[in-house]
Amino acid sequence: MTHENRKSILFVCLGNICRSPLAEAVFRDIVETAGAARRFEIDSAGTGAWHVGNPPDPRSVEVGRRHGIDLSRLRARKVVGSDFDRFDLILGMDRSNVANLTAMAPASSRARIAEFHDFSTGTPRDVPDPYYGGDDGFEEVYRMIRAAAGSLFEKLGADMRGVSG
Ligand code: 4NP
Repeated sequence: MTHENRKSILFVCLGNICRSPLAEAVFRDIVETAGAARRFEIDSAGTGAWHVGNPPDPRSVEVGRRHGIDLSRLRARKVVGSDFDRFDLILGMDRSNVANLTAMAPASSRARIAEFHDFSTGTPRDVPDPYYGGDDGFEEVYRMIRAAAGSLFEKLGADMRGVSG
């Protein structure tokens, strides 16, 4: 397996406690289930620093648990400059995340920055910030993330097809 056939993806939201930890864990579940874990490096981060070091929001942990996904060991971190060199793909959960990422990117950034839904499905759609809403919002966010993560895996799998490892 050559370096080109390994893809690194950073999922980004505002706090790194609600949406992007779910995206990280759901996408990891998809690649592990497909036996493709070695082909991916997967992480998540926030553009804001309020929750650095904290576990995900209990409502995200709970919605993950209901769907068989364990988020409890994840810890929030902030996006750093080296992420733009380290990751092939940096996916913001909504338009404001993408705008923040674009503003933070060093001139030397090699990462492709895109909106998660737009890159994965071809249709722009914000994953809404569920932080100030109720539990229903987290279920809706989970469903959106699960669908887009499946599309992302199909898209990247097609790009990487024919390569063993
Ligand atoms: P996230 O949700 O960006 O999906 O992690 C939020 C979490 C915390 C805050 C905002 C959004 N906050 O303002 O602290």
